[in-house]
Amino acid sequence: MAIHYSRICLQYLIHLAHDNVDFRLPEIRSLLSLRGKPFDPGENFKEKSPFWRLNGLSEEDVNSIMARTVCAKSAFELWGHGRTHSELRNSLLKYPTENMSPFLQKDSTYKINVYTFNKTLEFEDRIKKIDAMEYLSFEGRVNLRNPKHIFCLLEDYGTDPNDIPDEPLYIYFGRWIADGQRELIRSHSVKKRHFIGNTSMDAGLSFIMANHARVKAHDLVYDPFVGTGSLLVACSHFGAYVCGTDIDYNTIHGIGKASRKNQKWRGPDENIRANLRQYGSEKLYVDVLVSDASKPIWRDGVLFDTIITDPPYGIRESTRRTGSQKDSVNSVKPSEDYVGDSHVPVSMAYHLSDIFTDLLNFSAHHLVIGGRLVYWLPIYRPEYCEEMVPLNACLRLVSNCEQTLSSHTSRRLITMEKIKEPEETDVLAHLSDPHFSPYQGHNAFREKYFSGISKRTLTGKEETNKMAANGGE
Ligand SMILES: C[S@@+](CC[C@H](N)C(=O)[O-])C[C@H]1O[C@@H](n2cnc3c(N)ncnc32)[C@H](O)[C@@H]1O
Repeated sequence: MAIHYSRICLQYLIHLAHDNVDFRLPEIRSLLSLRGKPFDPGENFKEKSPFWRLNGLSEEDVNSIMARTVCAKSAFELWGHGRTHSELRNSLLKYPTENMSPFLQKDSTYKINVYTFNKTLEFEDRIKKIDAMEYLSFEGRVNLRNPKHIFCLLEDYGTDPNDIPDEPLYIYFGRWIADGQRELIRSHSVKKRHFIGNTSMDAGLSFIMANHARVKAHDLVYDPFVGTGSLLVACSHFGAYVCGTDIDYNTIHGIGKASRKNQKWRGPDENIRANLRQYGSEKLYVDVLVSDASKPIWRDGVLFDTIITDPPYGIRESTRRTGSQKDSVNSVKPSEDYVGDSHVPVSMAYHLSDIFTDLLNFSAHHLVIGGRLVYWLPIYRPEYCEEMVPLNACLRLVSNCEQTLSSHTSRRLITMEKIKEPEETDVLAHLSDPHFSPYQGHNAFREKYFSGISKRTLTGKEETNKMAANGGE
């Protein structure tokens, strides 16, 4: 009983990847909340550090986070830590023997890894560091190929590659528990995806979005600007049923011009269902429809556990909605840089601010309570302030993370959670509180985006390519 008690009071060390730094905390918080656990960091927590100490978790909690995270690399049961090797030694010697001994037994095998952040060590130096750990009573045999237990000495040399100290700033030692799902970034790369488009979302960000959204098995997930379905691919990986709509007939039907170099037309079966089949999740495909997100097509009431989407910003594709012939005085041509082969019967401008107001209203009406909306908001950085993030009385803002795209532009990943059903008074909320009214400044995003960079020497085309390389539009 005593051993059980001490084992659930352990501290765990999470080693995080040093990319998408802004997205890491909301990801880990979201995954913890799926287990009903709060984020309880150790003292001196630094969000930008690659190492986080977490309290109040069980090994099962840690395993469940690692089974989903793409932001964390590995997790360890932390046995000791300190600013110097001597502090580490003191800390390790104080660690309860009953916590260590099950992993140090004579009949077991083990290996010790050395990991250094922001410094590369010679092989001999690593061996010296391992030899210096002899004060821990490892009784098992070393087995480098297939050890029963893996331990790791992790040294943190700070985050400045131009100022690497001789000695580590902080050192940790722990028992390895699990790796995260970084491998998904490679295995689901859009480069190897069956059906892609000019705006297909990068695999890593798609999984981050699905984690921020807390998508889980048997959920029903909807993407109203589905494109080639990259977000549905990530959500179905976590066992959710997925569906989507897009205004573009050719995209939904997987026909028209191909986006790949050296391929003129899309081949047969280049569609979203085939993408899910590629990753073994076709049984979770519900359907996709041609539909304009500005028009109501859904029956009233709660329909979806999650709404996850990457709305058009008008950089690579125009922001459009369908209209009748008589509306066509207001119709817009696709933007000059629009390279897709689109098919939208008669299209009219769909202002960015309206897109977001519609998206939040739709989510307020059609999400389950506790269900999340996760979407990208384009931002003109010189003018951005938090008040620009659209609000809705039925949705609580959970997180707001920035991905910088250029010196002047970025997009922010917004996560909201439905807290109540809409009432009649909510429809009028925008009249009394400017937070709830559409931010008209978003409409000028495209114009500002290009005027911003014209101050520099980049051409619109170059900058567009840069955004695409970042997984943006
Ligand atoms: C940024 S892309 C989405 C890319 C998608 N996440 C993917 O991975 O392929 C935005 C999509 O919104 C669609 N779209 C534009 N206006 C729309 C509207 N009014 N209603 C529905 N879809 C629209 C475009 O055709 C485009 O496919």
